[in-house]
Amino acid sequence: MSLGLIGGTGLTRLAGLEVVASHAVDTPYGQPSMAIEEGVFAGRKLFFLHRHGGGAQPIPPHLVNYRANIWALRELGVERIFAANAVGGVNSQMIPGKLVIPHQLIDYTWGREHSFDDGSRGELLHVDFTRPYDETLRSEILSAAVAADVPHLDGAVLGVVQGPRLETAAEITRFAQDGCDLIGMTGMPEAALARELHIPYAAVCMVVNAAAGMGDQPFSMDVIRETLRRETERFGALVTAFLRRQTGI
Ligand code: HPA
Repeated sequence: MSLGLIGGTGLTRLAGLEVVASHAVDTPYGQPSMAIEEGVFAGRKLFFLHRHGGGAQPIPPHLVNYRANIWALRELGVERIFAANAVGGVNSQMIPGKLVIPHQLIDYTWGREHSFDDGSRGELLHVDFTRPYDETLRSEILSAAVAADVPHLDGAVLGVVQGPRLETAAEITRFAQDGCDLIGMTGMPEAALARELHIPYAAVCMVVNAAAGMGDQPFSMDVIRETLRRETERFGALVTAFLRRQTGI
């Protein structure tokens, strides 16, 4: 089954991806974040898209064309999406450096194009989103992490905020009371759009900072970059293990 990998902050390129083609796809919703790279990684074919774009000027989370990205991946025949998100830790166990495979979402974003349903499709897209991540794909990612000995945490509620600013300490207290373990800016509407197109979707979150008011370190992009560098290596090991266990792609 053809796999699409969506990279986030820190994952502008997938080290070790042998690019064989680059696809500039036009969609009814406009341009995706970048031309999608088709390549071979760990001996398997995949499509790679960096959601913040491949240019020098990253597309901020609230301006990503999530609809075009998901549509373009489907145009290329992608049948499963494995997404990476850099996030803040709300739960005190989810400290910087942890890889977490979330099982639930709370969407706090607003003003984004949340649906392919523009009223002209002749069907209402009331998709079931009880479990926002595909359970089979999630368990395959978890099994790969266990098999490859990649340290990870299984299960978390990811709150998705509009950004691009970070939160106040009071907002984080509220998100914790809501049940959020992690906070990020890009998990939605991506997951819901994939569901609308019936593409199984699961995510791996890289915790890069303690959420506002949670840690004793001030927020620092330098520290975040260094954490991301280490996590991206482990993420690469996880993707490798995941792909090696796949057959027929
Ligand atoms: N808040 C929201 N989004 C984020 C954070 C955060 O602390 N860290 C990385 N993405």
